[in-house]
Amino acid sequence: MDMDLDHIVRQVEKYGDLGRALEPPGTQRQALFAKVQGYADRFLDRIGSLKAYETDGHEKCEADGMFEPQEEGGDLDRLLDHLALRVDGPGLNPASGGHLGYIPGGGVPAAAWGDLLAAITNRYAGVFYSSPGAVRMENAMVRWSARLVGYPENAGGCLLSGGSMANLTAVATARSAMGLKGRDLERAVVYLTHHAHHSLHKALRITGLGECIVRYVPMDHRYRMRADALRDMIGADERDGLRPFLLIANAGSTDVGAVDPLDELASVAAKHGVWYHVDAAYGGYFLLTDHGRSVMVGIHRADSLVMDPHKGLFLPYGTGIVLLKDIRHLMAAHGYQAHYMQDTRERAFEPSPAELSPELSKHFRGLRMWLPLKLHGVAPFRACLEEKLWLARYFRHRVAAIGFATGPEPDLSVVHFRLETPEADPEVINRDIARAVVKDGRVFISTTLLDGRFTLRFAALSFRTHREQVDVLLEQLELLARAAATGSGAQPVH
Ligand SMILES: Cc1ncc(COP(=O)(O)O)c(C=O)c1O
Repeated sequence: MDMDLDHIVRQVEKYGDLGRALEPPGTQRQALFAKVQGYADRFLDRIGSLKAYETDGHEKCEADGMFEPQEEGGDLDRLLDHLALRVDGPGLNPASGGHLGYIPGGGVPAAAWGDLLAAITNRYAGVFYSSPGAVRMENAMVRWSARLVGYPENAGGCLLSGGSMANLTAVATARSAMGLKGRDLERAVVYLTHHAHHSLHKALRITGLGECIVRYVPMDHRYRMRADALRDMIGADERDGLRPFLLIANAGSTDVGAVDPLDELASVAAKHGVWYHVDAAYGGYFLLTDHGRSVMVGIHRADSLVMDPHKGLFLPYGTGIVLLKDIRHLMAAHGYQAHYMQDTRERAFEPSPAELSPELSKHFRGLRMWLPLKLHGVAPFRACLEEKLWLARYFRHRVAAIGFATGPEPDLSVVHFRLETPEADPEVINRDIARAVVKDGRVFISTTLLDGRFTLRFAALSFRTHREQVDVLLEQLELLARAAATGSGAQPVH
């Protein structure tokens, strides 16, 4: 028997009333929002004095239930206190200009305002039919990036969550475009260097290419792929009846910021019919600078590439771009037509992100990129990138004068350096130096292994990094190097 209609209506009203808590009315909403805005403003007002790394507080997460949702709602002040203490305290502070480790991220405030509006209006940016404006905006961001690369008009791509997802999308596209079948895998060969980002190894595995043969192409003394060695390897593989399939080059390696000889590599790939992918996640937006364009000559010859606005355009985490020289390859690999999507095929005047990527419903990322670029103009972004290139040169000169061994002039804004003194084991002393800098926390650096040797890294990419932060690091390194020379070891300097 059907339920009584009055009962149904009473239930609808009861649950509706309870659910309305999710939509606080005008004045209450404004008061809550003011608290959130106050938190953000206090964070930004103090950003210059906040540490880049906080070692305290990692273990303070006692089980008070604050991370877990409960049936009853809580007090916003208390929740924000929790955020300040437990989240925005311990660990790395990527918003700090003192973040000189890994590949620093950004966080320009205008991107956050874009995100806020994207979250509030919640435009559906996956499909043109649903939000032609949001899709047009995202496509414009992609087209602008493709033009920087020098790609033709039929190039295309989409905004993804970061470099790893963009590399994954590119590798899946390469597999589809090259028509690789399961039976081809054991004979298919992928070429990269030991400095390829590990997201590419993940991408190969996830796309079923883990069974391919992976060749590590030797690098020169600047950690750039050697085109002559690549040519020889491909030639030998062809003679052995293998199928050279994919070449992966770096335009800004994570370890040392090296840019491979992109033009020469493009010629080798073209001659042998190999798909050419360039990982420019870190280096890509340096194309806004004259220097960047000069070191990345030939990048437009790549079949696919990745560049990360959440690195080189200083956006908050969550924005990468995959670009294909010919958008049709991306569509062939990712397009899909479901019955329940049939209405969306009407009035589709531009490609939809959903036909170009693994995602369907997705964050409207275009707004966080468009708003800062339009509000501030491109000029300050270019200037920030120029500044980082000069800061890397400045740091290399000064750190060498202190007594650290450095590599040659960096291609971009990463410098590797290492103390080599007769007084101490370099493996130990450099590790101690890194620990001391991180413990002090005013600036943050990270380390890597180069030719098996423990090496320190300096990476300038935050828009908040200026000479001031670099001088803090230099001052610390000078004290630590002096302590190492006198045999007193590397102690925290602050
Ligand atoms: C060269 C390079 N490629 C890919 C990635 C992965 O990017 P994401 O961390 O955005 O996934 C990184 C990250 O630092 C990188 O430096």
